This record gives sequence, structure tokens and C-alpha cells, in this order.
Amino acid sequence: MNKTVEGETPNQPQLENRFYGQDFITVKELDRQKIEYLFAETDMMRAMLEAREVKKFLLDHAVTILFFEPSSRTCSSFIAAAQYLGAVTTVFQDMNSYSSVVKNESFPDTIKTFENTTFASTIVIRHPDDNSSKEAAKYAEVPIVNAGSGSAEHPTQALLDLYTIYNRLGRYDNLNVVFIGDARFGRTIKSLADLLAKIGTGNQLTFVTDPLLALPDDYKSELSKIATVNETQDLQGTLAEADVVYVTRTQKERFEKAGLLDRYPEVRAKYKIGKEEAALMKPEAIIMHPLPRQEELRYGVDKDPRAAYFDQMGFGLPIRMALLKSIIIE
Ligand code: NCD
Repeated sequence: MNKTVEGETPNQPQLENRFYGQDFITVKELDRQKIEYLFAETDMMRAMLEAREVKKFLLDHAVTILFFEPSSRTCSSFIAAAQYLGAVTTVFQDMNSYSSVVKNESFPDTIKTFENTTFASTIVIRHPDDNSSKEAAKYAEVPIVNAGSGSAEHPTQALLDLYTIYNRLGRYDNLNVVFIGDARFGRTIKSLADLLAKIGTGNQLTFVTDPLLALPDDYKSELSKIATVNETQDLQGTLAEADVVYVTRTQKERFEKAGLLDRYPEVRAKYKIGKEEAALMKPEAIIMHPLPRQEELRYGVDKDPRAAYFDQMGFGLPIRMALLKSIIIE
């Protein structure tokens, strides 16, 4: 449904907020118009932050943040986003220790509880189960925002990743993106790959992993329907053509759950990006990492102008401000 304003060129889609009142659980429901809308809002949030004049768009609304898994960047930026916008912000950063989950309260009751006790306008949730956000959305009357669900999805990370790419390279089409590390358990890789495939055209997605950490087959076959997917173990061979090198950590905590802990040492840092690898990359390419890092991303590249990961983490705040506002305010 495109609104046209009198005097403006017809067929030119006007930016319309299609996030209002909706869950944000997956990148699979995004399209270019929604991304353009959100990125324009993000630009506005950045300008207000820089000026230290953030409008309290969410005054008298409540944002309730429930984390069942550890987090630094995602949790802190959601909290700051809600507070900058003036929302009543309730945070349970360690649901497994400090909520009635300890008393075996069920997941549906937990969601209903926090919705009611805080009169929430939206609930932000991070949880180790792949379907956690979808499940939460069944029980909540208000929109659910997925802040990371198991090994499956991390849609707000994908938004800030795409925003970083757009900010640095000026496009999200015709990109050669090389993903390195843990494509099996890593959720950031999957959400960004899905998003690039869904909204971009001509993107080539290459995954450099140990075979143990390759993309799950069912995921890969879905992705291959809408994007060019390559898998290789030859990191050096991919770097010269890459526009984006997206490095990730091997997710040790998920090895434990999968009973694979004995295999962890051999794959832990099989692929690394350091000065030597960066020397093989194009001058205009960028290096990204959702962080936290281990030894797969060497400190030696931090000062390389192509290192985009500190900007990337900084974009988490305005992106999440834009998203919360768009979901809560019409
Ligand atoms: C990632 C996550 O939680 O999936 N971190 C983040 O949100 N920036 C990546 C990771 O934990 O390795």
C-alpha cells in the first residue's frame, strides 16, 4: 500500500511505517521499503544522539527487556535505546538466576507476567531456544522483539550489520560477502545472509568454515533458492574479491549443548583475520565482526581503516532506537 502525496511523482513509494504493532522476530519479513524506512529513522536517531537532543518519543510507554543468555552489546544498546526515548525500561539481564524461572515458572506464564507487571508496549527477548521469540509472540498481546534466538536468528544484529555495510559501501546489492567462522551455531551469520539474500540483488555469499561448522543443510538449501551460496575451506582464495569480510567467533557454549565439546579445540580458531590476511583484501573492502571476538580477529587490524566493527557496534543503538519507536509509535 503506497501512499502518494499530491504534487509528488506517482509510483514513487512514500516511506510508510510497516513495523507499527508488529513482532520483529525474523529478517525474512523485511523488504527494501521497510529497510529504507528504518534506515531513514536510524539516520534521524543518529543526528539526535550527536546533538544530544533525543526526543522522548516513547514517554509513557514501557519497554521490557528479558535476557536468558549473556550479552554486552545487544542488551546495553536496547536498554540505552529505550531510555533515550523516554520509555519506562524494565531489564532482567539474568532471567535464569533472578526471575521466577528459578521456581520453574513456565515460559508462557513468564511472558504474560512481564507483560502485565510492566504494562509493556513491547518485550525484547534473548533466549537459547531457536523458537523462543516465535513462542513468546503466541503468549504476548504486545509485539515481541527478537534479541537473539538460539543458533537460529539475530535479526536486530542483521539490521545494524546491513546499516554498517550501507554506511561504508553505499549499497546492499552486488556484494561479495565472505563469512568466516561458525556458520553452524552462529546466528548473526544466518540472519545477515538471509537479509542480504532477501533484499539485495546480485549478492554472492561465501562461507569459509571447517566442515564441522558449515551451514546446516536445511538452512543452506533455503538460502540457495534466493542467493548464490559458495562454501570453501580456502580463506586466502576468497579475500582478494571480497567486499565484506564478516568474521565470527566459534560458539563454544553451543558445542557443549550439542555434545561436541571434544571437537572444539581443533576448530576454535582455524581461520583468522590479521594483518597478513588484510593485506590480501581490496583497499575499499571492509572487515566486520558482531563481537565478542576471540583469536579469530587479531587486534593488529583494529587500526586498519577497513576495520568496521567498532562503528558496527555503535550503530546498534540508533538502529534499536529506530526499531523500538517504529514498533510502538504509529
Ligand atoms: C553475537 C550473538 O550473541 O549472537 N553477539 C552479538 O549479539 N553482538 C555473536 C556471538 O555471541 O558470538
